[in-house]
Amino acid sequence: MKLLVIGGGGREHALVWKLAQSPRVTHLWCAPGNAGTARETLAAGGTVENVAIGAEDLPTLISFARKNRPDLTVVGPDGSLALGIVDTFQAEGLRIWGPNQKAAQFESSKAFSQDFMERYGIPTARSRTFSDPTEARNFCAELGGRCALKADGLALGKGVILSQNLDEAEAAIQQLLVQRAFGEASRQIVVQEFLEGIEISLHALCDGSHVQILPSSQDHKRIGDGDQGPNTGGMGTYSPTPFLSDVAWEQVGHTVLDPWIRGCASEGIDFRGLIYPGVMLTSSGPRVLEFNARWGDPETQVYVTRLENDMVDLLEACLDGSLDRHPLRWSRQASVCVVIAGAGYPGSAERGKVIHGLDEIERLPKVKVFHAGTVLKEGQVITNGGRVLGVTAWDETLTAARDRAYAAVSRICFDGMQFRHDIAVKGIIG
Ligand code: AMP
Ligand code: GLY
Repeated sequence: MKLLVIGGGGREHALVWKLAQSPRVTHLWCAPGNAGTARETLAAGGTVENVAIGAEDLPTLISFARKNRPDLTVVGPDGSLALGIVDTFQAEGLRIWGPNQKAAQFESSKAFSQDFMERYGIPTARSRTFSDPTEARNFCAELGGRCALKADGLALGKGVILSQNLDEAEAAIQQLLVQRAFGEASRQIVVQEFLEGIEISLHALCDGSHVQILPSSQDHKRIGDGDQGPNTGGMGTYSPTPFLSDVAWEQVGHTVLDPWIRGCASEGIDFRGLIYPGVMLTSSGPRVLEFNARWGDPETQVYVTRLENDMVDLLEACLDGSLDRHPLRWSRQASVCVVIAGAGYPGSAERGKVIHGLDEIERLPKVKVFHAGTVLKEGQVITNGGRVLGVTAWDETLTAARDRAYAAVSRICFDGMQFRHDIAVKGIIG
């Protein structure tokens, strides 16, 4: 079977690595991929082939697919989904995994998601949507100035501002609604009450009518140790988390996803892909902060190292509506991913630095380095983005997995590299 994976970050390298293990896969392209995807080999023989086409360049992707006829295309990034890549491929008779444009609205419009949650009784923060700055300000005042102010549309993970008082809330309204910091994406904003609690990542595969909930994981969004500094795309993850038992975790999943899937059915939303609600475990129960309509990055890196099913089978089950007949199987081992970023991240990061130590790590057991912003140049692996690598390790306990991941991180070196030193610590102490 021939596969095409769309995207070139850490998530896509993780998906490629797992898909390449399926004996069913005889050819795998990744567009555009990175230096890590280019090094992967298939269990069935052969190597993964990078194709130099951007993940959002739909016309070129379509003409590549028309010519090469992949049996299945797998979409990683939210941007491609929001552009309607799934609808475009389907219109050409090409099989593709991921939500269509209507279903991808759960991520591409926070206002849509918020209204949907209210219509179907999905627990979320108290919230309203605004295009008028004065009305937004009045609501922030009602909330005592402690709010989350969010651009409605996609904003590269940077469209959320947290305020602690009314002055900060006003500054955020100015930036988002008045100065239109994110262009059309901040024509409207969602204002939520500020929630306290433990934030976790809920992931579930969905085939249009059934959901299969993945184990718990937790991201670390801030750049600095101790959750200090600005938000990033995610600086590290681990799975499972110790905050809830497996049974309580399933309950959280059902509390959110049972009304969600009922709502999808009644609105004619055919969601086939992965739904990822960001959830705050508050003292009065779980509350959804936002929905993503794709695999988390770096959550995927820890999930693929624990998943025992053939991933091709699972993705196909999402498309043919048979997910209920494919129970997910997980290794009992814990997995930890530590992201290494370039200098300057989450602002504009330095690029073009030579990365040392990768070959040595390939020989270590229970460790996998997933590439994100990397490129091959004259035989060397060079940095080419903000988040550069996701060093992932697994072991019997979270502590052992964490030690293994950091031992591997210590062997990697490039100019200006930065990483958090406390990934998974909350899970060990907590
Ligand atoms: P989002 O992209 O909506 O998940 O927001 C980015 C980050 O902002 C989240 O991962 C949370 O850490 C934080 N956040 C979002 N909404 C809230 C909220 N209502 N209360 C507190 N923190 C929030
Ligand atoms: N882990 C954060 C995200 O994928 O949005």
